[in-house]
Amino acid sequence: MESGINPWSSTPDVDIARLFTDFGIEPVEEVAGALESAPAFFRRKIIVGHRDYGGVVNAINSKTHFNVMTGFMPSGHPHLGHLMVMREVVWHVEQGGSGYVAIADREAHAVRGLSWDACKKYGREYLECLYALGFTGTTYYQSENERLKDLAFEAAIRINFSDLSAIYGFSQETSLAHADSVATQVADILYPQLMGGPAPTVVPVGIDQDPHIRLTRDIAHKMRWFTVLDSGDLISVRSKNAPSHALDAVADAFPGSRRYEGHVDIPGADCISVSEKVRALEVAEGGYGFITPSSTYHSFMQGLQGGKMSSSVSDSLFWFDEPAADVKKKVMGALTGGRMTKEEQVRLGGEPDKCPVYLLNLFHMIEDDTELLEIRSACLCGSLLCGACKKATFERVKEFLSDFKERRDAISHKVVV
Ligand code: TRP
Ligand code: SF4
Repeated sequence: MESGINPWSSTPDVDIARLFTDFGIEPVEEVAGALESAPAFFRRKIIVGHRDYGGVVNAINSKTHFNVMTGFMPSGHPHLGHLMVMREVVWHVEQGGSGYVAIADREAHAVRGLSWDACKKYGREYLECLYALGFTGTTYYQSENERLKDLAFEAAIRINFSDLSAIYGFSQETSLAHADSVATQVADILYPQLMGGPAPTVVPVGIDQDPHIRLTRDIAHKMRWFTVLDSGDLISVRSKNAPSHALDAVADAFPGSRRYEGHVDIPGADCISVSEKVRALEVAEGGYGFITPSSTYHSFMQGLQGGKMSSSVSDSLFWFDEPAADVKKKVMGALTGGRMTKEEQVRLGGEPDKCPVYLLNLFHMIEDDTELLEIRSACLCGSLLCGACKKATFERVKEFLSDFKERRDAISHKVVV
């Protein structure tokens, strides 16, 4: 497999350093630094990389139109492992983004074998969680969205089997519906621009979803009618497969330009403004004019027992609707970065960076950086012991879950299935 990442594997095993060097994911510090107020997932380096996120940062800062889009596969109840993406989506909506969330029931049905009814039921729970966290915007089930499915078909014209086998390791045995669910996900990511016109779009995902992002970026580019080349004194607008009326429209829009068979040359123009105008013309003439979508990549919190957090290891996480007593057992029984004996811990201090309990606080349970830092220092110097720390953490989790439940109940009616 080209990437070594399989988005359908239950245990994504990702070498982050390799992603940066081999696949052009960029470190996040520089773009995030341009945000006027960075949320915890940037400040705490939970988001480790991005593609083209700069355009979204500019849109946030200049209060111009942008989208945030993601999808959830409804293959089980939502749990702790879904919370980061949900928070990222909600934060972007709060920054002025238009929010879009897909329930990937085509994928869950085709790849995981879930019934449509089960997809409905679980999908509803994800949406409820999102609205409870403050989401507003557009949500849909893939299977019910006709415009999405048409877009997936158009996108599929540009996807061939050798792409699929190179990117995902698809083989002769892979079902057509699985391939179709990939085209549907490409369409999910482009859908906000189909509905609202070209705009920067960020897809916050775990790093295991990067293959989808790379494919979508490639397809978005292929679905454009024009490329704009800067050759010094000339800006050349090249048709990829634009209808001739669109090329005429470009020629007409730039006085002094020269129309050739497959391109229009514009002397003495500025590349960026030509690109923007051409994109608008493309849309006006019936094309898509997609802006290549961006992404951010968050790292994964390790499971409460150490190792991977996965719904197949039920002690590694908690579900949002799990009874408090069960959650308590999981938090109190979690692996820590503590020492073998109390004496040793007092003398040496604990190891918060290796501690799932600390990470649970860092990822989700403590909003205030100072409070988090105090716990970290107390752990490091041996004045905080694991028993007390876990107990305090469980109190925060309990509070979070009961508040979350209340909010879910209050907005439940907003979820239209
Ligand atoms: N494939 C994703 C998953 O396994 C779900 C998904 C569907 C998605 N459409 C999307 C994610 C669009 C990001 C953007 O969870
Ligand atoms: Fe983890 Fe808390 Fe123990 Fe430190 S004191 S190792 S943060 S559980």
